[in-house]
Amino acid sequence: MYFDLSEEQIMIRQAARDFAQFELKPGVIERDEHQKFPAEQVKKLGELGFLGMMVDAKYGGSGMDTISYVLVMEELSKIDASASVVVSVNNSLVCYGLEKYGTEEQKQKYLVPLAKGEKIGAFCLSEPEAGSDATSQHTTAIDMGDYYLLNGTKNWITNGGSASTYLVIAQTHAERGHHGINVLIVERGMEGFTVGPKENKLGIRGSDTHSLMFTDVKVPKENRIGEDGFGFKFAMKTLEGGRIGIAAQALGIASGAYELALQYSKERKTFGKPLADHQSIQFKLADMATEIEAARLLCLKAAWLKDSGQSYALASSMAKLFASEVAMKTTIEAVQIHGGYGFVKEYHVERLMRDAKITQIYEGTSEIQKIVISREILK
Ligand code: CAA
Ligand code: FAD
Repeated sequence: MYFDLSEEQIMIRQAARDFAQFELKPGVIERDEHQKFPAEQVKKLGELGFLGMMVDAKYGGSGMDTISYVLVMEELSKIDASASVVVSVNNSLVCYGLEKYGTEEQKQKYLVPLAKGEKIGAFCLSEPEAGSDATSQHTTAIDMGDYYLLNGTKNWITNGGSASTYLVIAQTHAERGHHGINVLIVERGMEGFTVGPKENKLGIRGSDTHSLMFTDVKVPKENRIGEDGFGFKFAMKTLEGGRIGIAAQALGIASGAYELALQYSKERKTFGKPLADHQSIQFKLADMATEIEAARLLCLKAAWLKDSGQSYALASSMAKLFASEVAMKTTIEAVQIHGGYGFVKEYHVERLMRDAKITQIYEGTSEIQKIVISREILK
């Protein structure tokens, strides 16, 4: 594992940094306040090739590596985690699964517009009664010969209201347990498919989170990804990479808050000297910098393992567990360093603190990452 970034990776990181500064920062407070989806910004992210970053150019993607993906996720998340989660879901949970396991027809029809950023995708595993306990699917996809009859409700779906293509996990053969689960490509507009109201959230308020209802939706057989019964494994394999994206999102939230706190501590004076001259503030900054660097290394290690064709399930769970805890701790300290100013929206750190919380919950809570990690190390 090399610690130097290539010239191309440095350029990609700079492009993401500039985009975050000039396109995401203006309006980020207002979008958070009004729960406004960053539609214009997401369109531009698509034009930059950031929505299909790791997809092969022959399917409309940018053919970049996972290290570049981590760099981009960190930079975007420093400013706007509501926009970066669109990048993460579209890349890791939707495009990856379609490219890796889809048929050529599925790739041409669904992957190409998603990778080009012309359409947005959603990944639909969670249900009211199946979050951490993801094998306990209540949504059913009954085999009717030429099509599946899809019935049920999905909860908390990111991009729920703005996506066109939904990868929906559902139980086909209940008697086979998780071996009887399938994943189906569902299009927006299919009869019987309705999108519920947008959730009113603590953080990532610009992100578009909805429940989805399926009532006798006829999904053609050719929209199943993989063999009959592959759906749960599909979800788990896809989440291995997704967790790298969310780890990098957490890293970005933490480093964004740290950079603001560092700057502020040099400007604000108390007792006749800058905050940064007080040892207790210096120690907070030292802890933040050290933990962020450790989180960054875990993210890059997981990405490097994936890029070099090695197993990365353990590394991605470790990265997500650690980076999300660092994001929470760092953003709380960043608010503290800002004092009362940290408590108001104009200084950005309170939003980062609210946004940090979700990284400990979605794509597997911290407790679930510990289950995955302990199973791997005890195997
Ligand atoms: N790769 C391949 N197969 C895997 C796997 C992996 N990484 N992890 C598990 N499996 C397989 C197991 O081998 C097993 O199959 P076999 O019986 O054939 O061996 C099957 O899956 C079931 O596994 P377990 O017996 O380990 O299942 P479990 O009920 O104990 O739970 C779990 C496993 C890890 C806790 C899993 O349920 C889980 O990851 N839960 C969290 C769900 C989650 O992360 N949801 C995220 C939703 S998406 C999202 O949140 C997006 C967003 O916000 C932006
Ligand atoms: P539960 O599973 O009910 O867990 C509640 C608490 O109990 C947690 O702290 C959990 O860690 C703990 N717990 C549960 N089981 C155990 C155990 N065995 N041991 C120890 N502790 C345990 N899902 C999707 O499919 N697609 C999406 O796009 C998506 N986007 C989301 C966006 C947002 C904003 C949110 C809030 C959620 C999103 N989710 C999505 C769902 C998310 O993945 C789940 O919320 C998460 O997996 C936890 O499930 P749950 O909410 O049902 O909590």
